[in-house]
Amino acid sequence: MKELIQKLVEAWGPSGYEHHVRKLIQDEVAELADEITVDPLGNLICRVGQGGPKIMIAAHMDEIGLMATYIEKKTGYLRFTAIGGLLYTTLMGSRVKFEDGTVGVIGAPDMFGASRTTAPELDEFYIDVSDGNGNSLVQIGSPATFWRPLEERGTRLIAKSMDDRISCAIAIEAMRRLRKNKKKKLPNEVYFVFTVQEEVGIRGARPAAYAVDPDIAIALDVTGTGDLLKNEKMAVKLGGGAAIKVHDTGLVVPPAIRDWMVKRAEADGIPYQLELLNLGTTDAAGIQTARAGVPSGCISIPCRFVHTTSETVDSRDVEACVQLLLGLVGNTVKL
Ligand code: CO
Ligand code: ZN
Repeated sequence: MKELIQKLVEAWGPSGYEHHVRKLIQDEVAELADEITVDPLGNLICRVGQGGPKIMIAAHMDEIGLMATYIEKKTGYLRFTAIGGLLYTTLMGSRVKFEDGTVGVIGAPDMFGASRTTAPELDEFYIDVSDGNGNSLVQIGSPATFWRPLEERGTRLIAKSMDDRISCAIAIEAMRRLRKNKKKKLPNEVYFVFTVQEEVGIRGARPAAYAVDPDIAIALDVTGTGDLLKNEKMAVKLGGGAAIKVHDTGLVVPPAIRDWMVKRAEADGIPYQLELLNLGTTDAAGIQTARAGVPSGCISIPCRFVHTTSETVDSRDVEACVQLLLGLVGNTVKL
């Protein structure tokens, strides 16, 4: 699974420009689904099984990034705007990659003075894309993502865009295992949906849910952990198992959905922890209000340093999430 994770986290795909990631996933799942469609916004919808309650699984393909807005006349430095929730203190010295592969480096004003201790405003940062020969390699309107390769340390995996490619990997891995067990008929009709534009306000998942018209939905996404220093109080920790969401700023998980997940984890002996997230939400927040309403929950992947280039997960948690997802979609749903 590590090879798949590496391919996904190193792929390029800021919100609204998910086409490379979608192509990669389409190639991975081509033999794993009974029906594959791409909707007008670019959501990739893969049906597995037929008949029974419809369960929609959502994992977002997009990642945070930025877009060039202006080229400084004399110097050629780029100004930019954010795609998604950038943390300004992480920007200085960061590498960004444009679609054509051009790598830029972010600078800040007065780097050894004011910017050393306090992050400047977004419009004060700039990107160096000079090639040393006076050529401007990037046009305004060009989007970029942050760039770092995947690293491994024990059971930890460190990369950019674990949010939310780790969930794309979990969904694909679940599809692989379902296909292996093809002889066993699925009691549910499962839609694995790889969504667009989550990071800019959950714009892809709701229309996808309208099309799928599910009875239940599960979003797969990363969640913060309470095991950092001077952190807010949060019970989730890295290596503590799959996180079953109870509440976040966009979703109150219906108790029946939460209990369905907890009972499954307990019955299958899967390590789990309850997640209460004080800042942020997921695709489930959009899906729950699609059509006449969809009872929705989340399987969350504990992740340190979310929205930095070093998002860190534990592969044991990842495996627990795959198993929980398989347990939920593979058994008759009793709510
Ligand atoms: Co995010
Ligand atoms: Zn996410």
